Amino acid sequence: MDELSISKVTFEHYPDGFGIGHSAPRLSWRFSGEARDWKQVAAEIKILLNPGSSSESLETFRIETSDSVLVPWPVRPLKSRDIAEVTVRAIGESLSTPWSAPTTVETALLDRGDWKAELIESDIPQPVDSTKRPVIFQKGFVVDSVEKSRLYITAHGIYEAKINGKRVGDHLLAPGWTSYNHRLNYQTHAVQSLLVKGDNTITVEVGEGWYAGRLGFMGGVRSIYGEQVGLLAQLEVDGSVIVKTDSTWSCGTGPILESEIYDGEVVDHREELKISNSVVTKDLEHDVILAAPENPPVRCTEEISPVSISKSPSGNVIVDFGQNLVGWVRVNFKSFGPDFAGKTIRLSHVEVLENEECGSRPLRLAKAQDSITLSEQLPEAFWEPKFTFHGFRYVQVDGWPTESAMPITEDLTARVVHTDMEQTGWFECSDAMVNKLHSNVRWGMRGNFVSVPTDCPQRDERMGWTGDLGVFAGTANFLYDTHGMLGNWLADLSAEQFEKDGVLPPPVVPDVMQFAGPRQPLAVWSDVAVTAPWDVYQNFGDTSILRQQYKSMTAWVDRGLPRGPNRLWSKTAHQLGDWLDPSAPPQDPGKALTDSQLVANAYLVHITALLAKISTILGYHERAATYQREFEELKVVFQNEYITPNGRLASDSQTAYALVICFDLCATNQQKEGSGDRLEFLVRTNGFKVATGFAGTPLICRALSIAGRDFLAYRMLLEKKCPSWLYAVTMGSTTMWERWDSMLPDGSLNPGDMLSFNHYAFGAIAQWLHQVVGGISALQPGWKKVLVRPVPGGIITSASVKHLSQYGMIECHWRIYEGQKFNLEIILPANITALVVLPGQIEGQGVEVGSGRHEFSIEYVSDTRWPPKPIHPPPPFYHAEPDEFAG
Ligand code: BGC
Repeated sequence: MDELSISKVTFEHYPDGFGIGHSAPRLSWRFSGEARDWKQVAAEIKILLNPGSSSESLETFRIETSDSVLVPWPVRPLKSRDIAEVTVRAIGESLSTPWSAPTTVETALLDRGDWKAELIESDIPQPVDSTKRPVIFQKGFVVDSVEKSRLYITAHGIYEAKINGKRVGDHLLAPGWTSYNHRLNYQTHAVQSLLVKGDNTITVEVGEGWYAGRLGFMGGVRSIYGEQVGLLAQLEVDGSVIVKTDSTWSCGTGPILESEIYDGEVVDHREELKISNSVVTKDLEHDVILAAPENPPVRCTEEISPVSISKSPSGNVIVDFGQNLVGWVRVNFKSFGPDFAGKTIRLSHVEVLENEECGSRPLRLAKAQDSITLSEQLPEAFWEPKFTFHGFRYVQVDGWPTESAMPITEDLTARVVHTDMEQTGWFECSDAMVNKLHSNVRWGMRGNFVSVPTDCPQRDERMGWTGDLGVFAGTANFLYDTHGMLGNWLADLSAEQFEKDGVLPPPVVPDVMQFAGPRQPLAVWSDVAVTAPWDVYQNFGDTSILRQQYKSMTAWVDRGLPRGPNRLWSKTAHQLGDWLDPSAPPQDPGKALTDSQLVANAYLVHITALLAKISTILGYHERAATYQREFEELKVVFQNEYITPNGRLASDSQTAYALVICFDLCATNQQKEGSGDRLEFLVRTNGFKVATGFAGTPLICRALSIAGRDFLAYRMLLEKKCPSWLYAVTMGSTTMWERWDSMLPDGSLNPGDMLSFNHYAFGAIAQWLHQVVGGISALQPGWKKVLVRPVPGGIITSASVKHLSQYGMIECHWRIYEGQKFNLEIILPANITALVVLPGQIEGQGVEVGSGRHEFSIEYVSDTRWPPKPIHPPPPFYHAEPDEFAG
């Protein structure tokens, strides 16, 4: 029987409807059920404004629309603090959904004038050039009623708020990291359950965080955004301000002595809470936007127990959590004996072991150490840090206050902490190592999406490097609902780009790299101004991200990008190029096989083509025509510069061919065929090992697929020798590494000083897994139409991929059975269609299907080119390594 219902109603791209910053949020509804070929023809929407109040009113609408995603708000705009209950029914030709469960939306403070609070700081200035002790702000207040109570709160620093001793909400590292000079996010919390009628106390501890702490490598810089931590908070009951930060607050200190992002937290429980200082009020710059974020909050999303606790050869106690993760360790105090007072437990966090001891060299100047000194009275049953985070799998525990000095498993719990985006992508196949690779990609993303998308989470960096996100965005957007987070990050990118009349996107967003000299234009990295909004648009289909970023992307391409006389990149510009290809020496990560100018110019032609498309989508037709002309001209200049008539490239490397093939830069079929042939030759002569860095890795398998050589892409995917994707898996990795050989085959660490074991860029291979192995990609932006085209290959005999789109779950499962039979099952949510192209067919032979479950079975003819043979140099240099797939 056809079943159909609405499983979720959402507002803009907010994780939920609470505390939003839009007065007229567009509505989307997600379907569940397997109704066949179902399309929406109309929608009925009921909006109950201000439910339960004297001004309650119900409005009902019927809209003749097939749209179920981002439907305009149909009723009067909401005001600050308004609440509405939204219920939706989607109407089809013969079948309609039941009314959805009511979903509540509540606006936060939409006007700056709603803020009555003043920014407060301690009246005792904190040190500027050394670590700052967290400040505790406090205020007592009285309430007569605890009806609808809201705390609107943000800080200069990272805050933790308590009301009457109980923690407010479950957000961590709030308010998160934004470009604080331009945009400061605030949070809204429902706090009625924490309030009592009569006397109450609000206590907010603020650590230096990203705002005033040390950021950047080579020692970095402190106090980048400001020298003092501060607090801005306003508590309202029934819309009336009851307490707000102002000069009547007091402040002081508690047991935390130090707490820094890189170095960790130092707490001494013998220190008592002392609230004896006054506060001073400060002006919050008026042009700083106070924003209710679409970026989901950082939360603890999982807890992990140790898999082992043992002593290292030198006698250190080492705890292994079995997974490289980001967050911190919660310490359970329960098992201590009597003599713990005054003792200090030290937790040192590392990603890897070297010679069975903690390998801390990759951390560079990040101590990544938490230290807890105990008082006679154990404060609470548990302890965990508040204003730091670590990237780690192993923790060395010193000073554990029991006789054995060894904690037991129950004493320590790793708390996994990251931006709490909804997971929207899953992949699995018959090969356990490929599944582990996919799991590593996902863990790499979780650990590096901590308020902003970062390069790595462990060393003295953890910054929003643009190029890293640029090459990984397509993969990220499939795996998690990234719209809110990346929309927030891109807003910062453009705010910073135009600082001081500039036009260059910063290399890291938020930009904390001023210490490293003036901004540089950098292909791939600066190009994220165009590529990331485009990727977000592809996955979510919302043109508003393109509109939001249009000024930024055009300013970069028209005015920022330095050009030579032929309109390609200026030859004197420094480039990072195909960063970290495997041939780059440990201390020279940009020294790649591929000409960095070729990389830059291939990207330039590509982003110019994207600008033509984006301008058309936004209705800027004249500009679209100009960019299209520019693209066609640049493409010819590129061809003349780099491509021979037979398709050989000036840089004879995997990355060069991958860029040219994926960005469609050849002029003739002869060039296309020639470049495919040459890429095949390079892949075979390299023994199927990867030879690409940041620019080529996301594209190499896709290029092989476009060139009709999926079998070679499979062969590269399945290669295990270094460098390859599975090499790290053979070495026991649980996240993606920064370098193909972050750990060398003998288990020692790469001698380079840029050495992370949690960098997501090379994880961009997962997009090929989703699209080609799994077999689904968006044929129209936002997944309104899906291309289902699995291409089996290699030794993989089954795969499953799922994507939770804004329409509902898209599923695709295939298997090869009895040797030659291929079975495909797909499940599509309501209101979308798919083009299904079976193995062996070309796109024109595909069939169109609508929603529901569909099954296809065909005879399967495996690719006779599998297993491909490597090409070795001729004897006497011939020392063929055994090939596990050779027949
Ligand atoms: C980061 C990279 C980044 C690069 C560019 C590194 O230190 O970790 O991922 O993109 O610098 O210079």
